[in-house]
Amino acid sequence: MTSQTQSAKTDSKDRVIIFDTTLRDGEQCPGATMTHEEKLEVAELLDTMGVDVIEAGFPIASEGDFAAVNEIAKRAKNAVICGLSRAAPKDIDRCAEAIKPAKRKRIHTFLSTSPVHMKYKLQKEPHEVYEMVIAQVTRARSHTDDVEWSAEDGTRTEFDFLCRCVEAAIKAGATTINIPDTVGYTTPQEYFDLFKRVRETVSNADKAIFSTHCHNDLGMAVANSLAGVGGGARQIECTVNGIGERAGNAALEEIVMAIKTRNDVFPYVTGIDATMLTRASKLVSAATSFPVQFNKAIVGRNAFAHESGIHQDGMLKNAQTYEIMTPESVGVKQTSLVMGKHSGRHAFVHKLEELGYQLSDNQLQDAFVRFKALADRKKQIYDEDIEALVDEEIATAHDRVKIVSLTVIAGTQGPQQATLTLDIDGKHITTQSSGNGPVDAIFNAIHALVPHEAILELYQVHAVTEGTDAQAEVSVRLAHDGRSFTSRGADPDTLVASAKAYLGALNKMCSRAGRMAGVEKRIHSTDVG
Ligand code: KIV
Ligand code: ZN
Repeated sequence: MTSQTQSAKTDSKDRVIIFDTTLRDGEQCPGATMTHEEKLEVAELLDTMGVDVIEAGFPIASEGDFAAVNEIAKRAKNAVICGLSRAAPKDIDRCAEAIKPAKRKRIHTFLSTSPVHMKYKLQKEPHEVYEMVIAQVTRARSHTDDVEWSAEDGTRTEFDFLCRCVEAAIKAGATTINIPDTVGYTTPQEYFDLFKRVRETVSNADKAIFSTHCHNDLGMAVANSLAGVGGGARQIECTVNGIGERAGNAALEEIVMAIKTRNDVFPYVTGIDATMLTRASKLVSAATSFPVQFNKAIVGRNAFAHESGIHQDGMLKNAQTYEIMTPESVGVKQTSLVMGKHSGRHAFVHKLEELGYQLSDNQLQDAFVRFKALADRKKQIYDEDIEALVDEEIATAHDRVKIVSLTVIAGTQGPQQATLTLDIDGKHITTQSSGNGPVDAIFNAIHALVPHEAILELYQVHAVTEGTDAQAEVSVRLAHDGRSFTSRGADPDTLVASAKAYLGALNKMCSRAGRMAGVEKRIHSTDVG
């Protein structure tokens, strides 16, 4: 065993390695694209909260992915930084180059082993796949002694072939063996048995740590992961908020709290500081613009809310009547101080600390100015308002296209009109457009100033808090060239929030290196003045 993550026991309880793939499996799902800066920020938080292995991206996929993995590798303080690669030598070498600066580094290389994947996806015979497994692991080991090998679609792989591949991978030097439930098909009992049987059958199984990787297509990803650990796995691959391909991956916060709360049934320990779970959830939601469903376990808005009279009565008598874990244990802070226009900088800084934000001096100054502007328009500022404001501050810090001013004429006498001034790379440009409704007019104006071919896939509005003066939070998803870009904008004025959200998604498209060269060119050729 090479890395510290592979020390098996802590306090006589087995240590379960938390392998977070929010920045790889999570980020690759439609609409969850993060900017470079957002990825760095998420990685920093994961590192601080005690994630053992951060899968930072898929370096061969794009220049942007490479740059993010490389920068995260430079900055990480504790976690092992891992990059994903397919079996091809150039994939593996590119991955090795990206993770090179990390203090502790891992190459995760994978290959499909199920009959359906080998026949249709790889178009290879099993014996060819077997040889590729040996070659890919050997190549990865020439770069680092921490190598993970995954049998993609492992749960639908023939058992004997799976065992042969696992054995060969370990012999070639793999230190972690992942058996993914790629299509979210397995069940807890089946997954438990699979790990148990593979570990009993493979002669060199004791030389590697086994890992779970579960997708949530049937809603069993967390249950399956925990069952896999019961069967002998000691690493769980998961994502914050469970984001990921299709129905997502096993949710990190649910895994951690299940182990903590039901330690009688799951007698393991993780290195995660659970009080940072809420902050991580909010950050990932803000960075991806993926909302967290209200009733989501652990981190949903309603996860600790007690609405019914009977429950409230019980809670007042003794919290244990309806609460199996406390909100504080996952980092939910009681809304104590409601802020308003008389709140000073000191109170603002205190509130940010309480909410778990660490801003640079410049970010803090900008956020405070925006807070004051909001307080002038809204009597009471709640935690959610401040979170929306700061998240937006962080998300837009590197935007090249920003809103300067917007005036809209709306009402029963159409056509509705928008006059919009944007700041594009420091230059101001104005246009006026009409549309079928005020939002359409605004989006047409943005299109006129920043011509692009993206398609609007989603437009959604919800209120951040209660009351008619509540901030509107708008989500916009744009699709271009097979990728989706989601962003959120918040403002007491729904139309301004709409413009911010649309521009946020457009900025994400622009920041995706290489992919949006067309838009880049148009931004520069736009007659700005
Ligand atoms: O779901 C899957 O099989 C994967 C592999 C690349 C590990 O994400
Ligand atoms: Zn996956």
